[in-house]
Amino acid sequence: MLEDEVLKILRSVDIKAKEENLETPPQEELGDLSFPCFQLAKEQKRNPQVIANEIASKIKIPKNSVIEKVEAKGAYVNFFLDYSKFSKIVLKNMIRLNKLKFGRNKKILIEYSSPNPIHPIHVGSARNTFIGESLSRIFQFAGYTVNRLCYINDLGKQIAVLVYGFLKNKIKIKPNKKPDHWLLDIYIDANKIVNKNPELNKHVEKILYQYENGDKEISFLVKKIVNLCIKGFKETYNLTNTKFTEYIWESKFVKESKKYVEQLLKKKIAFKTAEGAIVVNLQPYNLPNTVILRSDGTGLYLTRDIPSHIYRIKKYKPSLSITITGEDQKLHFKQLFKIIELLGFKKFSNISHHIPYAYVTLPEGKLSSRRGRVILIDDVFAEAKKAVKQKFKVKDDKLAEKIGVSAVIYALLKIDPDKQVMFNWDEVLSLHGNNGPYLQYTYTRCSSILKKVKKCENVFSFKSLNEEEKKLIKLLSNFPKVVQQAIRDLKPHYVCNYTYDLSTAFNNFYEKHRVINAETNELKNFRLNLVKATKNILGKCLELIGMYAVEKM
Ligand code: ARG
Repeated sequence: MLEDEVLKILRSVDIKAKEENLETPPQEELGDLSFPCFQLAKEQKRNPQVIANEIASKIKIPKNSVIEKVEAKGAYVNFFLDYSKFSKIVLKNMIRLNKLKFGRNKKILIEYSSPNPIHPIHVGSARNTFIGESLSRIFQFAGYTVNRLCYINDLGKQIAVLVYGFLKNKIKIKPNKKPDHWLLDIYIDANKIVNKNPELNKHVEKILYQYENGDKEISFLVKKIVNLCIKGFKETYNLTNTKFTEYIWESKFVKESKKYVEQLLKKKIAFKTAEGAIVVNLQPYNLPNTVILRSDGTGLYLTRDIPSHIYRIKKYKPSLSITITGEDQKLHFKQLFKIIELLGFKKFSNISHHIPYAYVTLPEGKLSSRRGRVILIDDVFAEAKKAVKQKFKVKDDKLAEKIGVSAVIYALLKIDPDKQVMFNWDEVLSLHGNNGPYLQYTYTRCSSILKKVKKCENVFSFKSLNEEEKKLIKLLSNFPKVVQQAIRDLKPHYVCNYTYDLSTAFNNFYEKHRVINAETNELKNFRLNLVKATKNILGKCLELIGMYAVEKM
């Protein structure tokens, strides 16, 4: 809001600046936003101070502007806000802001979470889930239509190992605990046996071959097991209010994938090796060649991802299709998108985007499902809930769960997806610093202030604002921009950073100034509206992050 206004004023004197050219001055005396003239000075080979003076003297501030004064100081043009006007606009808007509109009529497709259906969701897939869920909510808040996909890889070797375990020990499908946890036990056992006796691999491979080729009995069993696992996932997703539009199974694409292999051969994009495997030639595009059909005629993860991506685009017609996975799949998606383009889907790379994320490290080290040393998000959630009960003396079970789950989500989401997460229990559950409980606590503070008053009059500005009030109003005005930037860069942690800043600004304000017992009635009402706006925006932020906004703690 403020930036747009300053840019508009600069344009009126023929300065075409962009938002990133503006700076926030270090001291209040230097105004609320400034335009440094070094760049212009370089271009025009003139003194920046002279240019700043020139610009400031040319500017005529429009009557209804939220800017009240412009001054040149050194090489900077400094802009000063008229806070009474500004706070009126900001508070009126932010008290009832419920949705933004810039995504209207645009469709987003987002595949996320996609845990392998052989064991419960581990913290790595959980990070994926939280990034995807938060991004989905952010897009939706901005007005986009969002479709959420969960891809079920039911054709991997791991599945075959699990099925082998069922067949070998004649296990009946009757879980005695959360079904995905039950499956993990069976998987770990089966995996141990296969690892000890490598000759058993031929059985595992046979199962895989049979499933890919539609063997009735095997298909029946695999589907049953995978569905059971998904049932377990859904219990976990319920804790975080994660719901998918569609679960798509990899096995659905076996047939179609072979048609694309044929096409690639015909177009001479792929070739057959002496051993009989089919390889796509990606060297002309500076990518390594890749096998797309084994010599026994079975496809690969990549082979099925071709139709899986074409399918989703045809069905949902998104303006952007996002897939989130661990960073070890960067090359996979580069190759995949290139192959789909080579198949004739010209604009595919323009609308498809892969978001890789780095791994989550807990004190135990890197996670691996194959070795059975997985850290399950269900366990992390349960642990968090227990700790909340102890630490914050929360008796209500549901409330403790909401605080615990939120704390874990925040800890994983606040870090840039490009960077590793180091999980530290003490920090995650802290009421101070950049942590979930601190944000929720700030929200409850707003709530409890507002609950204490019966009536609040519409006072949206005050003659002279203190520094803390100014800071808060400026931050509130920034919220729509933060949403826009998170969407531009596909980085939900921007919202986390913002929520932390807003919470800190609010607490600084509240610790220094009285609200309900303010000096005058007018001031009290003005500050109550400030609390109202903060509560609304904080609540929206928590929702966008995927956290629960609780009323008490
Ligand atoms: N299940 C895979 C994993 O756990 C992620 C699937 C990614 N999606 C895709 N369409 N390839 O890493």
